[in-house]
Amino acid sequence: MSRPDWPEILDKIYRKTRAAAARNPHKIPYSAENGVYDDMSTKDICWWTNGFWAGQLWQLYGAYGDGLFRTAAEEIEEKLDKNFLSAEGMDHDSGFKWLLTAGADYALTKSGASKNRLLLAAGDLAGRFNPAGNFLRAWNDRGDGSNAGIAIIDCLMNLPLLYRASELERDPRFALIAMRHADTAQRAFVREDGSVCHIVKFDPRTGERLHSLGGQGYGHGSAWTRGQAWALYGFTLSYLHTQRETYLQTAKKTANYFLSHIPADGFIPVDFRQPETPRVEDSTAAAIAACGLLELAKATEEETYRDAAENLLSALASYRCDFRETTDALLLKCTAAYHDKRREFGLVYGDYFFTEAVLKLTKKETFLW
Ligand code: GLY
Repeated sequence: MSRPDWPEILDKIYRKTRAAAARNPHKIPYSAENGVYDDMSTKDICWWTNGFWAGQLWQLYGAYGDGLFRTAAEEIEEKLDKNFLSAEGMDHDSGFKWLLTAGADYALTKSGASKNRLLLAAGDLAGRFNPAGNFLRAWNDRGDGSNAGIAIIDCLMNLPLLYRASELERDPRFALIAMRHADTAQRAFVREDGSVCHIVKFDPRTGERLHSLGGQGYGHGSAWTRGQAWALYGFTLSYLHTQRETYLQTAKKTANYFLSHIPADGFIPVDFRQPETPRVEDSTAAAIAACGLLELAKATEEETYRDAAENLLSALASYRCDFRETTDALLLKCTAAYHDKRREFGLVYGDYFFTEAVLKLTKKETFLW
């Protein structure tokens, strides 16, 4: 497939995002219906994706210096303060929420209030550590105690919040917890063939691994593609923060599984082990994997990973992007979970990771992980 002109693609993203931000100055979008973003600031201020729109705005502020993006992103960061006051709403996704809001703000402006938020979020995340099983608990109680032993692959993307806190505080505690979790994830989630489980249940008292669950993929024992992307990017990030070779090897193993299962047309299904029909896609998995592969290519100096990332992004840019300035959502055919009724629509984290990947290719990224 021919490669798009990436600076031109970035310009299209900038113009589209600017139009969407001007149209929706107070929204925290999660998904799009008929191209129009919804608003989680009124529906659920604690939702796991509430940092992504601000992350996209900060990334483009870093690249273009456009104040409209900064103002909208600062408003979202302040709105998320309400989340800190909800024990119920504080879960393991603090990395997604605060690295892309407060973390981005701190990276670009050195705001003291943002640093404070980052440290509050990291302290809470560290408090989710279960020392019997050496894992970070994903979700909160549903009234029956059944979530106490649950950890999920996505959490690897939240670990950079702990690495950042260790740097900021000059205190290894946070990073030590992150590494304990990453070690457990290597052992308990990654299969022999390099595919990964989405959810693992441990006994929260003894730490024994009980069983895995299919989660958002097709079913038990399947290979949910976004989970595979979280794994390959997440282990790469743990390697970048710690220089521990074992994480690099696991990042390669999970990446190699992803690469060897990309269909001939280059579009990523929701699950590599889903039935042939219906052919349900998830463009978010492609965008997240591309970001991870670009970092892995730099870390390993292996061009294969960069080529694969550019192929995934070229397919998205050519056939799965809506660059019109009259609609809000950018990436098409995103799917949250295989068995959801609503599939193949716009999801804000797809837009964020596609933008992050193009910023990596054009060397305009603010590294937020
Ligand atoms: N659970 C986060 C995700 O959908 O990837």
